[in-house]
Amino acid sequence: MIINVAHTKGGVGKTTIAVNLAITLNTNLLDIDTQHSSCEFASLGPARNIQFWKDPEKIGDIAKEYLDDPDKHIIIDSGGYDNNISRQFLLHSNIIVTPLTTSQVEFMGLQNFDNDIVHNLLKQRPGIRACALLNKISYHDRSDAENLREVIETNLTDYRVLKTMLGDRKIYKQAFAAGLSVVEFNRSSPAAKEIKDLAAELLSICKEITEEKRHG
Ligand SMILES: Nc1ncnc2c1ncn2[C@@H]1O[C@H](COP(=O)(O)OP(=O)(O)O)[C@@H](O)[C@H]1O
Ligand SMILES: [Mg+2]
Repeated sequence: MIINVAHTKGGVGKTTIAVNLAITLNTNLLDIDTQHSSCEFASLGPARNIQFWKDPEKIGDIAKEYLDDPDKHIIIDSGGYDNNISRQFLLHSNIIVTPLTTSQVEFMGLQNFDNDIVHNLLKQRPGIRACALLNKISYHDRSDAENLREVIETNLTDYRVLKTMLGDRKIYKQAFAAGLSVVEFNRSSPAAKEIKDLAAELLSICKEITEEKRHG
């Protein structure tokens, strides 16, 4: 399956989430952001048996190899921009994961991304799962996040909100700077648990897609 971490807005956590997911799920990653932060991250860390690619022309091969495959997954780190390539990748995704945090501006950003892009993609390929991921959430007070979950679920019918939320934790930055996932950095940390929960939740959505295809 192709899991595309995507939002036209920058700074929402796409790269942080994409690299942590790729390492935790032990999958390859394609970085189509022109900044190539995911590839830079990989060059800081230890040698791995997964690949971090940055060639957007791989789209044909990647779609052929991973799209709809129940057992083979790839993570895409989509750039914070909108162009023909990023739209082609979104169209050739199984799951779109859009991170956002709790603010009115960020909710409007998600709404714009949905109106401008995701809504039309789902018309073309209704099987794509669009998932909002609440990121940088205060772990002292989750009420804002719960309110945002409700606002998204009521107003943006294209999106479901993932059960897993990620806290606002400095370990995400520390691990990134060392080229490590948060699980590798400290496997008993709350962040490690969140990332493992997120990976498991996405795998269960992959299963759901496979079941749906099997039953027509
Ligand atoms: N859950 C989090 N907790 C704390 N900081 C985070 C978290 N997620 C992302 N960040 C920080 O937010 C900034 C933007 O994240 P990044 O992954 O580069 O976003 P994007 O790829 O969407 O531009 C980075 O400094 C990153 O360390
Ligand atoms: Mg990025």
